[in-house]
Amino acid sequence: GTNQNDFRAMDSNIKGVYTLPSNKDKIELLQKKNEEALLGGGQKRIAAQHKKGKLTARERIHLLLDEGTFQEIDKFVMHRAKDFGLDKEHYLGDGVVTGYGEISGRLVYVYSQDFTVFGGSLSETHAEKICKIMDMAMKNGAPVIGLNDSGGARIQEGVVSLGGYADIFYRNTLASGVVPQISAIMGPCAGGAVYSPAITDFILMVENTSYMFVTGPNVVKTVTQENVTAEELGGASTHSTKSGVTHFACANELDCINHIKQLLSYIPQNCEDEAPVYEYEITEDESRPQLDTIVPDNPNHPYDIREVVEGIVDEDSFMEVHKNYADNIVVGFARLAGRSIGIVGNQPQSMAGVLDNDASIKAARFVRFCDSFNVPLLVLVDVPGFLPGTDQEWNGIIVNGAKLLYAFSEATVPRVTVITRKAYGGAYDVMNSKHIGADLNFAWPTAEIAVMGAKGAAEIIFKREIAEAENPEEKLQEKIDEYTSKFANPYRAAHRGFVDEVIMPSETREKLIRAYKMLENKVDKLPRKKHGNIPL
Ligand code: HXC
Repeated sequence: GTNQNDFRAMDSNIKGVYTLPSNKDKIELLQKKNEEALLGGGQKRIAAQHKKGKLTARERIHLLLDEGTFQEIDKFVMHRAKDFGLDKEHYLGDGVVTGYGEISGRLVYVYSQDFTVFGGSLSETHAEKICKIMDMAMKNGAPVIGLNDSGGARIQEGVVSLGGYADIFYRNTLASGVVPQISAIMGPCAGGAVYSPAITDFILMVENTSYMFVTGPNVVKTVTQENVTAEELGGASTHSTKSGVTHFACANELDCINHIKQLLSYIPQNCEDEAPVYEYEITEDESRPQLDTIVPDNPNHPYDIREVVEGIVDEDSFMEVHKNYADNIVVGFARLAGRSIGIVGNQPQSMAGVLDNDASIKAARFVRFCDSFNVPLLVLVDVPGFLPGTDQEWNGIIVNGAKLLYAFSEATVPRVTVITRKAYGGAYDVMNSKHIGADLNFAWPTAEIAVMGAKGAAEIIFKREIAEAENPEEKLQEKIDEYTSKFANPYRAAHRGFVDEVIMPSETREKLIRAYKMLENKVDKLPRKKHGNIPL
């Protein structure tokens, strides 16, 4: 590390104390400082970092940004703390590398925590550096990418470090919905430190080398007597499957960085901007899923909604978000004729595509992101309703389902729905129905739009008739068939204009391309308010 006093001495002693340094000396001094800053906590700690299978803060930035575009800010910032020996140990940059650069030619701001300096722990000045680039990102309208690798609050500093965190949390909140914020977790992220990523739009974690938790395994053991490893408690697989805290679990750091780049390709620079438009090819690819035959004849048989997505969007353009969490609903980004869209689709092959607590929350958050950043929505509906039961009720399906209802209702981006099969009950209303402001609602001929499934319906409304029948079984079937033929189709809804058009599945892509083109200049405003009160 740099001793601040040695450092001053070096500055003035280059040619003896009484001789003024020449310009050449001054240039050499700058070079020297630059070289020192590049080393962070020193070669030994860099080697230790590599040994753990982790890259350094600068190596990560190098991989993330377009070659030669990184412009570092605050390279020479050092901490001001004096307690516990900190007055004798200084490192240029103070454990975080910050600045701006480009990804695919687009401006981004980045901070990358340097674990080789005090374990990447967050000091007052470390926080100030992060806040500085966040403020710049807000003023100049570009995404902020955080590469997190930190032992948490710099323990020697006390409350100024906690204050530093809060300064970041506050900015995360103000920036929410203004510029996209992406958090990659590439090492420890513990204590209150997790709350900055939590407020940002997307979290990515690296398998086996990153973890997030409010309190680590030792505290957990003391308080709850649970024995749990860091990986089990808060590793990438835990947070991508059990808690849903992370949107992506990445195989390694390079994979994580590539995910960030891909994610950015679907989203605009800020809330006033639109996502970049890409070239695309019109190919008649025979291997694409054929949509006319994708829905099985038996309405209780599953199919993969991802295949429907593949059959609609530009080839290989689908990027699924929250892939392994609440997989009864599928969300993600794709492109249609080169333009970015956000897709929400019920997944019939997982729990029949039912809406439950987790699925509702997952989809609601995604819808709100898309609406914040002008990404049009496509909603694919095949939903038998909300999941019944005490587990769901006691965990608040009423309020959680309402989140999705609210999120769709307040979304002002172009919104298009395709009902592929079931649209039952409250879930019909919730899944971007015409009634809650969708712009265009299509249905396939296989659509079934009703208050509930035919069996349940028949059992309720013909209860007495069935009970009194000579052969109740037969009667029930007769009533099921009657209900099915009346309601298990899209035409009742089409008669009312609740469905704008019943379309051939195979023409869905073409219809959607035209729909979004028609909606390109959509203007829709919510009533004036301070902000809404989404049922959290
Ligand atoms: C200062 C720290 C530090 C910290 C690590 N270091 N964490 N220095 N403050 N919080 C230093 C170590 O002293 C060591 O210095 C170097 O970083 C590497 O740490 P190691 O322990 O050798 O590394 P490793 O074995 O990989 O373990 C990493 C770790 C562990 C799991 C993160 O260091 C750890 O448990 N640290 C403390 C975590 C913690 O309790 N933080 C406070 C949480 S509370 P040398 O000189 O040897 O290289 C919090 C509140 C935030 O964050 C609230 C916000 C609202």
